[in-house]
Amino acid sequence: MHAPIFAPSLLAGNHAKLSEAIEKIQRTGLDWVHIDIMDGHFVPNLSFGPETVRALRKTSDLFFDVHLMLDNPQEYVQSFAEAGADLISIHVEPDYPVADTLKRIRGLGCKSGIAFNPSTPTSAVEPFLDQVDLALAMTVQPGFGGQAFKTEVLGKVRELVGLRKACGLPFRIEVDGGVDRKTIPLCRAAGADTLVAGTSFFRATHPRDLIGLATG
Ligand code: DX5
Ligand code: ZN
Repeated sequence: MHAPIFAPSLLAGNHAKLSEAIEKIQRTGLDWVHIDIMDGHFVPNLSFGPETVRALRKTSDLFFDVHLMLDNPQEYVQSFAEAGADLISIHVEPDYPVADTLKRIRGLGCKSGIAFNPSTPTSAVEPFLDQVDLALAMTVQPGFGGQAFKTEVLGKVRELVGLRKACGLPFRIEVDGGVDRKTIPLCRAAGADTLVAGTSFFRATHPRDLIGLATG
């Protein structure tokens, strides 16, 4: 249904040289970069802010896939949209007006995504699937790169594929966390079409081989 996309996660790049990380992605011939935003509350870590996105936007035409791991994303979607995000994903778990926030993301001219943690059932995102361009199934507990892929999430990817078909919806299905040479074939077989990879991309000696696995 969707051509597969491989989206490197900037979190695993050198934070002192983010523009070089972006250049590496561009040189490799990719179109997307995944940008993780953490608030130290929803996840026990901090990463980048809107100013980082704004500065990178000046150096790159890549599609900015911005993943907000925030307790109160409704307060920040406008900043990230104005900074240059192309797609903004928000999590379903915190207590805030999810549907309104998804509507605002689109109103700001961005594509929208709904993300959910490994322990959150697919039923939690189901009510929002007709409002999004992408459903993001976290394949690790969010907060840190370099964790082991949770195979049990593949069942939820298959559920998303089933719901997409049953409801005739166009959203992409993205997986994020522990995506590497071993797990890419599992993700593709389950039906994921958008694969985020941090550690495996930035550490790869031959990143094109990895991308070939994901998009071939
Ligand atoms: C985790 C982030 C991921 C992370 C993936 O909270 O959402 O995007 O960068 O990193 P790897 O690919 O190293 O598991
Ligand atoms: Zn992410």
